[in-house]
Amino acid sequence: DGICPKPLITFVLGGPGSGKGTQCAKIVETFGFKHLSAGDLLRREMVSDSEYGSMIMNTIREGKIVPSGVTVKLILREMKSSDNHKFLIDGFPRSQENRIAFEQIIGAEPDMVLFFDCPEEEMVKRVLSRNQGRIDDNIDTIKNRLKVFESLNLPVIDYYAKKGKLYRINAVGTVDEIFEHVRPVFEACEHEAR
Ligand code: AP5
Repeated sequence: DGICPKPLITFVLGGPGSGKGTQCAKIVETFGFKHLSAGDLLRREMVSDSEYGSMIMNTIREGKIVPSGVTVKLILREMKSSDNHKFLIDGFPRSQENRIAFEQIIGAEPDMVLFFDCPEEEMVKRVLSRNQGRIDDNIDTIKNRLKVFESLNLPVIDYYAKKGKLYRINAVGTVDEIFEHVRPVFEACEHEAR
């Protein structure tokens, strides 16, 4: 009862406000991937009647990380119900524990990992100027999200760099300028698949 055909998995990492969601929309448009945002899946589950709803809400409000088993289950559910086999998994893995849970439960490793590298001041500025009423877009929660990013997410980024799977993208500039750094990575990947 796995995912068929063999999935092509790309993880998209970067701090809060580094532009993961924005660039994923462009990758989907240009290269036809299925976009799975861990944050969006959790927010959707939070407002559903699910048993995890209030736990997820409290965790997100504090800028902490939801337990790995819950997040991986939500990702797996989406992967299985998709008829696309090219996945962009955005905002995941958030920690080494997330990464190990994914490998154990899904039984696969990513084919590549993008890291949107953006200075902290720029990330804070973008998140504060976003006007969507997210419960975690206030200065205290952002500071905590940045701390969590540094302590838990950077080790995952180092791990994939050592494995030779990491593509570091300069995430400063306009959305279109940044996409010009992203495009060749996917063009090379399509070329290889041919
Ligand atoms: P999540 O939803 O993943 O949020 P995040 O990682 O904090 O990232 P954001 O969505 O804030 O930013 P983004 O990098 O996607 O940037 P965007 O394109 O939106 O996670 C939220 C929470 O969920 C976590 O704190 C955690 O509690 C929980 N969670 C998530 N994943 C989890 C996991 N795996 N395990 C457990 N818990 C998990 O851009 C930001 C803004 O900047 C936008 O307004 C955009 O328009 C603007 N912008 C984008 N690019 C540019 C540019 N080049 N120039 C100017 N403005 C730009």
